[in-house]
Amino acid sequence: MPGVSLMWIEAPDIAASAKPGQFIMIQCGDDTLLRRPISIHRIDGSKLAVLYAKLGRGTLWLSKQKENALIDVLGPLGNGYVIGDDTENLLLVAGGMGIAPLMFLAETATAIGKNVKLLMGAQKAEMVLPGSMLPTGIQCMVTTDDGSMGIKGRTTDILPDYIGEADRIFACGPAPMYRTMHKYNLLQNKPCQISLEIRMACGMGVCYGCAIKTKQGLKQVCHDGPVFDFDDVIWDELVDI
Ligand code: FES
Repeated sequence: MPGVSLMWIEAPDIAASAKPGQFIMIQCGDDTLLRRPISIHRIDGSKLAVLYAKLGRGTLWLSKQKENALIDVLGPLGNGYVIGDDTENLLLVAGGMGIAPLMFLAETATAIGKNVKLLMGAQKAEMVLPGSMLPTGIQCMVTTDDGSMGIKGRTTDILPDYIGEADRIFACGPAPMYRTMHKYNLLQNKPCQISLEIRMACGMGVCYGCAIKTKQGLKQVCHDGPVFDFDDVIWDELVDI
């Protein structure tokens, strides 16, 4: 995946308590203002993985760190996905880098015997997470914008075909993906949890830089989220994120 890095971090305390959908703040460089929120991609024993796009100064710095480098990491932060005892069949919808936290959820769900289907969308074939990195036992359908792999189109194009068999939907992707779900009522009133990818400053509920309007009032994405019930978000008032 060009422009994307995978990094494993030895962090026993975080690895022991992290839940799918939670994130960590990583200090990128000497500048404390350069803490970056990055979702937890996977856990393996005392290690956690992050999968991130090298989009700016901070993530570029991070991607250049060598093996055994010491980095400053804070977490786990935020509220993650809740599978629920009444959920046997999970439908995961990943748009672009939204696949990062959903892998952790898929691994957690399959480990407790749940059925997992994944709709994974990317711009083109080379931006699709390799099948060898997916947990065994999950069913995966791929869409690409240019049709270079899987079905040509977006995950939201095929979502209606899979919604019927799902008990609950778990999504992570860019705001336009959620807006399409909302505009065309693609969820057909099925319960859905989404993770919001939003800019954060403090990451700990201090600065209110990440506040959004919900039916329960103003909420902080870093502290109350990043995972929210889809129906709680007031989509018409969500400024572009
Ligand atoms: Fe500061 Fe959420 S980023 S309150």
